[in-house]
Amino acid sequence: MTLHEFQQACDALRADAPARIAAALSLEAWHDVRSAMVGRKSGRLTELMALLPQLDREERRDAGAAINTLKLALEAALEARKAELEASAAPALQRDLTMPARALWRGAVHPVSLVIDEICDIFRELGFTVALGPEAESPWYNFTALNFPDDHPAMDMHDTLYLQDGGVLRTHTSPVQVRTLQSYAPPVRILAPGNVYRRDFFDATHAPAFAQLEGLAIDEGITFADLKATLAHFARAFYGERTPTRLVPSYFPFTEPSGQMEVFFDVGDGRGARWIEIMGCGLVHPAVLEAAGLDSEKYSGWAFGMGPARIAMSRFGLTDIRLLYDSDVRFLEQFA
Ligand code: DAH
Repeated sequence: MTLHEFQQACDALRADAPARIAAALSLEAWHDVRSAMVGRKSGRLTELMALLPQLDREERRDAGAAINTLKLALEAALEARKAELEASAAPALQRDLTMPARALWRGAVHPVSLVIDEICDIFRELGFTVALGPEAESPWYNFTALNFPDDHPAMDMHDTLYLQDGGVLRTHTSPVQVRTLQSYAPPVRILAPGNVYRRDFFDATHAPAFAQLEGLAIDEGITFADLKATLAHFARAFYGERTPTRLVPSYFPFTEPSGQMEVFFDVGDGRGARWIEIMGCGLVHPAVLEAAGLDSEKYSGWAFGMGPARIAMSRFGLTDIRLLYDSDVRFLEQFA
């Protein structure tokens, strides 16, 4: 081997070093590159050094100097790359101890869910369990079985969201009454919370999707007195023992007689205490019991339906329902 050939080999190693070093994307890869280039046992630099004895004595001195320079250059480049890799792998704490800590994110239960949970707790003590039904419902369960006449305005396309397969997005949780009575023999006492859908625009008091909570009690010999006592008990447990309650007449196709329960309550909107409607209710219409396959001579019962979002508004002093359905965490995290 000549000195010229030796120097060419050194130049070749120097020339492809930057690319190989840069290609080490992890500290592990860096160690591999390092031992392939300058490793004592099998590195290319070591291989070159082993060739030195083949040169003339005169040439050996120049060759030795050249390989030393090369060695220093390679080692400097390797160390620089190692520092880069370590910096990007280091946790933030090691980089800047003065950086402020990131605030821990605490999730909060949604105010509508808080209200649903509280209502379920009150009724659970009275022996009610939770039943659920589908949000994509058939018009039969949503309307027909609930004694809606065929031309009832609620079935209009302007009010109800119809699905392409002829189904509907349920407009209320009342269809769960029928589904439950088809599956379980009385006595039945259930609550059915869930989302319902109406063809409405968002404004301060309307949402196109919102929560409802249905209640149903069916057995032999249930009367309007049971309804009134149970719902008054609920209203006082929820709004306070001294809260006045009253039932006023109303109309729903699936109950007869129908009423709405009102509580005398200050919702905190600055207008003072007044009668607030909290639910619709009534004795389940015999036609609904029959549609579910029950003997309406033998069984009777009552039902109610309420809007947990409205109730959350009265509980938390809100005047715009959109706060509850906008999913703005700055609002929602206050309930943590
Ligand atoms: N489904 C009615 C609605 O969406 C609410 C309702 C009223 C449910 C009276 C009931 C009831 O079970 O008895 O407006």
